Amino acid sequence: MIASVKGTRDLLPPETRVWNRVEAVAREVFALHAFDEIRTPVLESTDLFVRTVGESTDIVHKEMYTFTDRGGRSVTLRPENTAGVARAYVEHGLAQGGGARKLYYIGPQFRYERPQKGRYREFRQIGAEVLGAADPATDAEVLGMLFDFLARLGFTGLSVALNSVGTDVCRGAYVEALRAYFSNHADRMGDDDRRRLEQNPLRVLDTKDPAVKAIVDEAPRMLDFLDAESAAHHEELLVLLDAAGIPYRIEPRLVRGLDYYTRTVFEVTAGGLGAQDALLGGGRYDRLVSDLGGPKTAGIGFAIGEDRLVDVLPPAFRDEAARAGSTVALVPLDRSDRAAAMELARALRAAGIAVDLDPAGKGPGAGLKGAERRGLSVAVLLGGREREAGTVVVKNLASRTQETVPVGRLAEFLKGS
Ligand code: HAM
Repeated sequence: MIASVKGTRDLLPPETRVWNRVEAVAREVFALHAFDEIRTPVLESTDLFVRTVGESTDIVHKEMYTFTDRGGRSVTLRPENTAGVARAYVEHGLAQGGGARKLYYIGPQFRYERPQKGRYREFRQIGAEVLGAADPATDAEVLGMLFDFLARLGFTGLSVALNSVGTDVCRGAYVEALRAYFSNHADRMGDDDRRRLEQNPLRVLDTKDPAVKAIVDEAPRMLDFLDAESAAHHEELLVLLDAAGIPYRIEPRLVRGLDYYTRTVFEVTAGGLGAQDALLGGGRYDRLVSDLGGPKTAGIGFAIGEDRLVDVLPPAFRDEAARAGSTVALVPLDRSDRAAAMELARALRAAGIAVDLDPAGKGPGAGLKGAERRGLSVAVLLGGREREAGTVVVKNLASRTQETVPVGRLAEFLKGS
């Protein structure tokens, strides 16, 4: 037997119904905020991620699916989608016409991590990006959209962890302060964190080592190093979030595991996810587009881990989405009733009613049992006697009641019930 590749998984029904419903709500909420969908390739040039996500990050350092294709090019299965969106923005001159471009995506990403609960090698993200808007009002609008979406799924009590990582203007001094601070504690660090300290001390703030986490808790704070403009951006954002009633808390050592961020960074964690509790992350990236050779363009966005989101969905939303909906079982009682049943199924579907046609004609017992097994609650029985009378029998499988209904009124009857 050939099994699925380690760290990947099949999404099966009825679970796929839940995924579809989540994605439908995302599309709806994003469209209400004037976002359009973008679909970028799963495969990108390796350079794209090296130059944007950054060489010192875990993602680029050890998690990418990188290979040389038959033409000798180094390509990578995207580990995230922001870089691809920025590349497309530059490549297609999406800046033209001015104004902000608001884009969202839903799709698979790949990271070669150690699989565990909530962590896969192929996982899916729902993300959104705004390119060409530098004002803190855009940060607030993006977070507002995010919380609208989460509220529509029934989440309550979530709050966003917020920080500013400043810009090139002020980060140098902060990085040096961190380097000095962590160097004093290097003897308590493992090889991974010592490499991070060497390459980019900011990365040490993301440590997974509990002993080093305790050191991080006392480390200098970026907020104390912000240049005047970054500090003003941060303060203005807080005012706007307060006004919009978006719950946040300042997390002074949040830096996120990607190099492209400037100023605002944020994360939402959720209880119930276990060790991998980051439900989503995002932030501002005002240098990313110009780093890729595009015009100077501010940007901000987020990506939600869809696998994790589905894992902690409020039960009410999950149950509603997983239900088979209003699909009706249509049961021909005898083989000779099959042609009439097919015709009736076509008419019902044309009227917008979902029909699960039982092809076997094995009699009412088997037909009804099958319908119950498939989770349906209404069955329409069609036999010789009914055909002659121009009627069908409609059985409610939950209440065990039944009613004889003229075929001409069936669609109306089913929509009403
Ligand atoms: P990220 O924090 O690397 O950010 O990923 C965003 C989310 O993807 C995480 O919070 C998590 O829920 C999910 N995720 C990441 N890795 C895995 C995995 N191995 N298995 C399951 N879920 C995972 C980004 O990717 C940025 N592009 C976000 C962004 C958009 N920043 C600005 N715009």
